[in-house]
Amino acid sequence: MEVKEGLEGIIACKTAISRVEVEDGKAILEYRGYNIHDLAKHSTYEETAYLLLFGDLPSRRELKTFEEELKDLRELPAQIIGLLTHLPPFTHPMVVLRTAISYLGSMDREKHFIDYDHAIQKAKSLIAKIPTIIAYYHRIRTGQNLVHPNPELNHAENFLYMLKGEVPDRIESRALDVDLILHADHELNASTFTARVAASTLADIYACVVAATGALMGPLHGGAAQKVIEMLREIAVPWRAEEYVLRKLERKERIMGFGHRVYKNVLDPRVVELRNLAKKLAKIKGSKWFDIAEEVAKAVYKHKGLLPNVDFYSACVYASLGIPDDLYIPIFAMGRIAGWTAHIIEQYMNNRLIRPRALYVGERNRRYVPLKERP
Ligand code: ACO
Repeated sequence: MEVKEGLEGIIACKTAISRVEVEDGKAILEYRGYNIHDLAKHSTYEETAYLLLFGDLPSRRELKTFEEELKDLRELPAQIIGLLTHLPPFTHPMVVLRTAISYLGSMDREKHFIDYDHAIQKAKSLIAKIPTIIAYYHRIRTGQNLVHPNPELNHAENFLYMLKGEVPDRIESRALDVDLILHADHELNASTFTARVAASTLADIYACVVAATGALMGPLHGGAAQKVIEMLREIAVPWRAEEYVLRKLERKERIMGFGHRVYKNVLDPRVVELRNLAKKLAKIKGSKWFDIAEEVAKAVYKHKGLLPNVDFYSACVYASLGIPDDLYIPIFAMGRIAGWTAHIIEQYMNNRLIRPRALYVGERNRRYVPLKERP
């Protein structure tokens, strides 16, 4: 038996949701066959979520219906608001999110119905409610009144409105919209694989999403975005970046927001889009984080040959939007929920239990010594 540590290079399933490939030295990312650059330029998060869930771009009428359905599903049941009120205010919002999703599952009497129609309905509900959970918890923990969902606003606008209490300008809401599109799916990343493993046992969709949120939170995956802004705050000025990077590398520590299992020597196409977005926002908002980030990226490439990943510039985008540091991972989840649920449904529809093997390397054939004979 050959062991591939970290399952590197292993093809674990077939998918028709997103394609990550390197062609002629250039990385390609497509959702359902549509290039991520086209989606970032022309699409909206709602349209991208529809595409991921249903496989094709919607007609104008289908999109309108989908947007209306999401708007109708945004509000949270009173019990969930009660839960958010009772959780300690120092609880990390990602822990809040997974607890609230689990609670939503406990309230759904049909949670075990995993046929296509029920699963799609539950996916829509989760896509609609996750922004409300994040925004409401933030308002509650900071002692502010809840700002209820506004059906006049789209998904990204409404989230910023519920979070901050004012309708965002077009540049801010479009920046978040594009960020959510770019985070919506990425083949078999750790959290999506986790979701698919849970789905392969025919666990309910809430259980699968809770499992995915747990995996996303780790600093080697989505948790890196929060670590990136913490690093930029520590560096504080661009001219300290190289010295910081060298010190980290000397200590054999990882620099968050760099390196990727799939994009080893090619730039992640999402990074191109997010870098442009971060640069534009920094200029408009007068934010210093992009300039520091650029110096960090130069130094990491010079001294370690590593390229930035999706978490690196998204941290600069969120910082320019004035989003609190610990909401970066929940916002990643807010985008990725479309991909998670699409993958869960794909797994349900063509399921075989995911159960790999391990190469046993422990001791063998040991003689059991009864407790009374042991020292
Ligand atoms: N900083 C410093 N060194 C790094 C980094 C990094 N960010 N990433 C990889 N390396 C080094 C390793 O130390 C190792 O070096 P060595 O050969 O000299 O020992 C080499 O690169 C290979 O590293 P692996 O851990 O084997 O690469 P792997 O493909 O398993 O890891 C991962 C990918 C986990 C993303 C890694 O690059 C990392 O830890 N990055 C920092 C965390 C991060 O940004 N995560 C977000 C990833 S994107 C996402 O999930 C949304």
